[in-house]
Amino acid sequence: MVKKKNENVEEKKIIEIEDVPGIGPKTAEKLKEAGYTTVESIAVAAPQDLAEIAEISEGTCSKIIAEARRMVRIDNFISADQIMEKRKRIGHITSGSKNLDELIGGGFETQAVIEVFGEFGSGKSQLAHQLAVTVQLPKEKGGLEAESIFIDSENTFRPERIVQIAEHYGLDPQETLAKIHYARAYNSDHQMLLAEKAEDLLKEGNVKLMILDSLTATFRSEYVGRGVLAERQQKLGRHLRKLHQLADVYDICIFVTNQVSSAPDVFFGDPTRPIGGHILGHSATMRLYLRKSKQGRRIARLVDSPSLPEGEAIFLVTEKGISDP
Ligand code: GTP
Ligand code: MG
Repeated sequence: MVKKKNENVEEKKIIEIEDVPGIGPKTAEKLKEAGYTTVESIAVAAPQDLAEIAEISEGTCSKIIAEARRMVRIDNFISADQIMEKRKRIGHITSGSKNLDELIGGGFETQAVIEVFGEFGSGKSQLAHQLAVTVQLPKEKGGLEAESIFIDSENTFRPERIVQIAEHYGLDPQETLAKIHYARAYNSDHQMLLAEKAEDLLKEGNVKLMILDSLTATFRSEYVGRGVLAERQQKLGRHLRKLHQLADVYDICIFVTNQVSSAPDVFFGDPTRPIGGHILGHSATMRLYLRKSKQGRRIARLVDSPSLPEGEAIFLVTEKGISDP
């Protein structure tokens, strides 16, 4: 059965993770620290993730997960009309450019993890700032009347930029800033912890957008060289699974950025053709490739979308934010 969000949230408070057979106080503490605060979150976890966090064997974790599943009712199968019903609730956030909104099916959508990738200065962070403002707009203006979470790993968040964009939309700058929940991520573990802790805010129900700018920078700087590539991918995979879960359960848009080099034959090659280990592969719901063009224009290309045609859109970055040329 598709539950309403509030019912869902209330249900989560009933049993504690310590009540799951196999979870002792020490294990509970480690799991909670990593954001596994509910029996549901244990029930849908991957054994290897829990094993790494709690430092116990994967076999034990599989048993714990099985117990958690017995304790909570997880409907593994729902009918397609219920999926349809859930998809009807998908909200869209305008980018400020009609061209770009059209390309991606009406704006940046909730219940999705959207990866925006491109070289330095291609407009990824500008777009992140823009959405942190436009998500606050009323529905008829392309927003969701909601707040956002901004996890910044590169120290490139600029409140002054938010003020400029807010003024352009006729929003009160102070109020607009107050509706952005900001955190600086200092390393990949910290970033993952912040994403997990964000769940507390999401439970309140006012947040519809979570930004990670950048998703990949901390991982790149910490895991250098071929020898640690697998480890990096595994950890990033765990991070992304959590993000997908949050996007799905709380009906939010998760916007992540990923810097790639557009110069051929450098480590990543052509970023739209991920050969030799594109850092994210195909794990995002939607992937948007940005590149710079003449006269301050930016070109966005939709890459491997499951339901939208591939195509390109041209937009501008100006001091008022994102707009059409
Ligand atoms: P990295 O984080 O380095 O990978 O780049 P990015 O893709 O996040 O780039 P970002 O979104 O920060 O784009 C920076 C670019 O946006 C600048 O080089 C400018 O071209 C443009 N830009 C930023 N602010 C303004 C502005 O007020 N007016 C105009 N016209 N352009 C701006
Ligand atoms: Mg940036």
